[in-house]
Amino acid sequence: MAGHILVINGPNLNLLGVREPGIYGEKNLESINQELKELSEQKDIQIEFFQSNHEGDIVDRIQAALGNINVIIINAGAFSHYSIAIHDALKAVNIPVIEVHLSNIYAREPFRHHSVISPLASGGIFGFGPLSYKLAVIAACELITG
Ligand code: DQA
Repeated sequence: MAGHILVINGPNLNLLGVREPGIYGEKNLESINQELKELSEQKDIQIEFFQSNHEGDIVDRIQAALGNINVIIINAGAFSHYSIAIHDALKAVNIPVIEVHLSNIYAREPFRHHSVISPLASGGIFGFGPLSYKLAVIAACELITG
C-alpha cells in the first residue's frame, strides 16, 4: 500500500450515534470508521483508528506515529480547544495533520471557536457531520499520492 493514515478521535466521540444526535448525527464511530476503511483501501492506502477519552493516551498515540504514519486526521473533541499537550505532540512528530469536526464549531458556543490544533494543520474540515471524516480521508490520500 502507498501510505498510511491514522485517524484519532478524542473524548466522547466513542458515544457518536447516542450523543446529541441533532448535532453529531446518528452514525456510530464504528460504522464511520468502516466507511473510511473502504474509502482509503479503494485508494490503496492503509488506515488505522484510535479513540481515547484520555489526553495522555492521545499524546502517546501521536508519538508512536513517528516514522510510520504519513497523515494524521484528528478530531480531538473538546481537547481541540485547549490541549497544549496534544498541540505539542503534533508539532513534535511533524506529520501532516488534517483537523476534523463533525459540527460547525464557529456557529456554536464561543468557547468552541478557538482550536489549538488549527495552526498546525495542513487543513481542516468541519460542519459536515460524518462526511467531514470522508472529506478528510480524500484530502489525506491526495496529500500522500501527490
Ligand atoms: C467536536 C466539537 C467540539 O467542540 C466538541 O467538544 C466535540 C466534538 C465536533 O466534532 O464537532 O467533542 O470536535
